[in-house]
Amino acid sequence: MNHLHRKDGRLFLEEVSLEELARLYGTPLYVYSLAALSEAYGRYEQALAGLPHLICYAVKANGSLAILQHFARLGAGFDIVSGGELARVLAAGGEAGKVVFSGVGKTAAEMRMALEAGIRCFNVESESELERLNRVAGELGRRAPVSFRVNPDVDPKTHPYISTGLRQNKFGVPISQAPALYRRAVEMANVEILGVDCHIGSQLTDLSPVADALDRVLALVDSLAADGIQLRHVDIGGGIGIRYRDETPPDMAQYREILQSRFSGRREEIIVEPGRSLVGEAGVLLTRVEYIKPGEDKTFVIVDAAMNDLMRPALYDAFHDIVPVAESSRPPIACDVVGPVCETGDFLGLGRHLAVEEGGLLAVLSAGAYGMSMSSNYNSRPRAAEVVVNKNEIHLVRERENMEGLMAGERLVSW
Ligand code: LLP
Repeated sequence: MNHLHRKDGRLFLEEVSLEELARLYGTPLYVYSLAALSEAYGRYEQALAGLPHLICYAVKANGSLAILQHFARLGAGFDIVSGGELARVLAAGGEAGKVVFSGVGKTAAEMRMALEAGIRCFNVESESELERLNRVAGELGRRAPVSFRVNPDVDPKTHPYISTGLRQNKFGVPISQAPALYRRAVEMANVEILGVDCHIGSQLTDLSPVADALDRVLALVDSLAADGIQLRHVDIGGGIGIRYRDETPPDMAQYREILQSRFSGRREEIIVEPGRSLVGEAGVLLTRVEYIKPGEDKTFVIVDAAMNDLMRPALYDAFHDIVPVAESSRPPIACDVVGPVCETGDFLGLGRHLAVEEGGLLAVLSAGAYGMSMSSNYNSRPRAAEVVVNKNEIHLVRERENMEGLMAGERLVSW
């Protein structure tokens, strides 16, 4: 992880001690490095330099307002998948005109909200959605900007739950049916065709499926142009994978080369929707060891963060590196790092070797993406606090949820 380093054996993110943050705000605590966020964004800017482009940060990866605010300040647009995400983007100062709206199940209310805000484009995923959007836009007296999300049927070689561009996945319209859909849209009074979109999956560690999908999409763009339908942008979906353990994340230079070789000389603007690679390696989850419990077969390190705080290990069997915040001379123990939630699936890491003690702090690495944004209140656990560090500055950007917040909106019945 960038900007994470040790000073006298103790972990710092940028110039801020993680022990100090745990003292100030308690645990579990998400901590993000502002510099790491900016640098990750800069790498996409570099890859796309010289080509007309818009980087639309995928809000689902981490929708915390301060993070959205930072990307908005860097000039980013946003990829949203719900009215809630749109509300967050607007609250954080994002420009509606740089928002693309993805997702297979947009409701009429969400469409209205997005049309009224004046978003850049709807990534339409089915004919029924197109019909609904045409109707809703008509009711508002507007034209809805659309692009179709096509499913190119390529294997992204990632976890099955996060593969999206195979024909058996629910996403997009089959690329073979896209021309008919474009022709249908041309006839509609209340939609304006802007582009094409595709997203094949997340945590991509191999770029060849990306290149394949892009070639298929560009062939479609050319055949539509031959039919008189000229698209203005090509949205290539999410970003590249990151390193959690021993993956070799794709090389940005190779990514750049794929894009530059295909787009130089073309007129369409490129939209990319990276999430994980903009925030993942910028964040850690800090947690304190509550108990060390020797079992018959193995030792359990019971920490105060759980599957409700970071769901990825439980849901995808995902690996996150876990390291002690303070180095010690004690011998490492073979252990499972588990949370307090009443499920066997509640673990942050299995089969680890850690030099730990009760009361000590652990850092769960590369937790900036799909960590806080997938957290829940399961077991009535208040959600963690979040801090952004900038050199030696500390910004509490989300307070720890309190008991009132935990029950907000609920009512007793007057029996
Ligand atoms: N655009 C669309 C339409 C998407 O569905 C996604 C992610 C992205 C962009 C961002 O992709 P990225 O750059 O992050 O790879 N919760 C899972 C990941 C789910 C990703 C879903 N779609 C995880 O924790 O691994």
